[in-house]
Amino acid sequence: MATERTLSIIKPDATRRNLTGKINAMLEEGGLRFVAQKRIKLDRERAERFYAVHKERPFFNDLCAFMTSGPVVVQVLEGDNAVARNREIMGATNPADANEGTIRKSFAESIEANSAHGSDSLENAAIEIACFFSDDEIVG
Ligand code: CMP
Repeated sequence: MATERTLSIIKPDATRRNLTGKINAMLEEGGLRFVAQKRIKLDRERAERFYAVHKERPFFNDLCAFMTSGPVVVQVLEGDNAVARNREIMGATNPADANEGTIRKSFAESIEANSAHGSDSLENAAIEIACFFSDDEIVG
């Protein structure tokens, strides 16, 4: 199996409810390692840039408002097949469709306030990691 890196974000609904430690434990227990992590507040411009692929979607404005509504924790996860593994641990985007034991099934409030983000491909992971971290901030 290939060792990969992926970007994860703990979203404002989860930081507000003090769930960072519980979510991080699920990621670690799922076999992923934190090689970078920081708690930040996104501004509108950065949120719009990060979610630019969704610019034409009806939920874009609300999504950017939500992602700037409180602190987020951005993190780089490393492990075997980390992109797919992280998405398994997170569960489906809509918590109503997420499997038992996943982050979103356990914690998400709605499809928007769904507690966690994870890159959807290795190519996007590299782009998304570079949005938040320089090479020297990632320590494997
Ligand atoms: P995320 O993995 O961060 O990627 C895009 C986000 O848009 C998604 O999680 C959801 O939080 C949010 N979103 C809000 N409404 C929808 C929707 N109807 N379909 C998909 N994503 C949505």
